Amino acid sequence: MTEIRVLDESQYRDHHTLFRGTLHHAAAPDEVWEHARNSYEPGRSHAAFDGAEIVGTVQSFGSSLVLPGGAVVPHAAVSRVGVRADHTRRGVLSSMMRAQFDALDEPAATLRASEGVIYGRFGYGVATRGRTVRVDRRRAAVPGEATGRVRLVDRDTAGKLLPELHDSVGMKRPGAIGRWTGWWELNLFGNIKPDDNLVSAVHSGPDGDDGFVVYKVDHGDKERVLKVYDLCAASPAAWADLWRYLIGIDLVDEVEAWLRPLDEPLEWLFTDPRAVKVTEFEDETWLRLIDVPFMLAQRTYADGDPVVVGVTDRLIPVNTGSYLITPDGASRTDQAPDVELSVDLLGALYLGDTTFRQLVTANRATGSNPAAADRLFAVSEVPWCGTYF
Ligand SMILES: CC(C)(COP(=O)(O)OP(=O)(O)OC[C@H]1O[C@@H](n2cnc3c(N)ncnc32)[C@H](O)[C@@H]1OP(=O)(O)O)[C@@H](O)C(=O)NCCC(=O)NCCS
Repeated sequence: MTEIRVLDESQYRDHHTLFRGTLHHAAAPDEVWEHARNSYEPGRSHAAFDGAEIVGTVQSFGSSLVLPGGAVVPHAAVSRVGVRADHTRRGVLSSMMRAQFDALDEPAATLRASEGVIYGRFGYGVATRGRTVRVDRRRAAVPGEATGRVRLVDRDTAGKLLPELHDSVGMKRPGAIGRWTGWWELNLFGNIKPDDNLVSAVHSGPDGDDGFVVYKVDHGDKERVLKVYDLCAASPAAWADLWRYLIGIDLVDEVEAWLRPLDEPLEWLFTDPRAVKVTEFEDETWLRLIDVPFMLAQRTYADGDPVVVGVTDRLIPVNTGSYLITPDGASRTDQAPDVELSVDLLGALYLGDTTFRQLVTANRATGSNPAAADRLFAVSEVPWCGTYF
């Protein structure tokens, strides 16, 4: 019989070690733990205990989420989900998920999934996706002249500048999330091996700093690949300059950017569209609407006839019901639903990545006129997060 408890500071390292073990990694060495410990926030780490032993972990970080229309709501970034191999498939994760939902104050949670079959049952749906691109540096050229300047900054300067820039530049697109202090510490300092040459560069335009990129060059046997981990820009001009800078770096064969927005117009940026190869499409954000009425009321809707959406939520039954959606907003209603679906699929639709029509076609939702709902839920920009955790 396992028991789920909230951990205190003295137990965080055991939590971290257990989780790493479930991903087949050894315990973090002291120098990594020094950074990882700061990502633990009070009251946000649960563990499953079998007697005195920890056999499962979940955690969350306090964050925020950008919605269609620009509202920013509090959001829990759920991570470090793991169950020890000798305790899996006995309901440990299910118990931890329930305990976590009960404890969270935020109206929504997101996570990154190790496997596609785990989280739908807990009400999470794929809400953003990304594509990995490889750019052949010798074929890529950006027409025109740079309008701003790119400068390299050292790690300490990056630690101060990049979080400010992400807050001002990176929190625009629906699906973007606020980065917590521990995220920066782990990603700029903690997860970096001593011989990793992680480089940060900042772009300044006419009004000052307005974008940044973080990358590293991998020396393969045959080719040198510059890997872009993070690229944020306030304007098309800053974005073009950052790419112009990347493809201008010497002793690099290809530039690879992982999990970029599906609508990033790189093929239109370079004179030769075939300089860009898409090597992978992946799900990025899994979104769980915890407070459905609140979340439906917070995003905006496009023009269209009113539609009633029927939602079922097995784990948080108070969300189950019908919601009237109009161009002016959303509210509970007693009217019969026009389209019906479960809460994980509402999560998948919520930011605009997928459509009612697709879900009805795939027999995941029901309704005779999904196009009417799609008109209301339509968004002008493909949602994307850009923050891996
Ligand atoms: C994924 C993981 C946390 C699941 O924990 P668990 O305690 O075995 O999950 P539960 O027993 O509560 O499973 C609940 C349901 O999900 C199913 N399920 C859970 N994980 C699954 C998986 N990886 N593949 C297929 N089905 C899975 C179970 O079969 C069960 O189905 P049922 O309700 O029909 O019986 C655990 O397998 C694990 O730690 N995996 C390695 C680390 C990892 O991938 N972590 C997730 C990081 S995002």
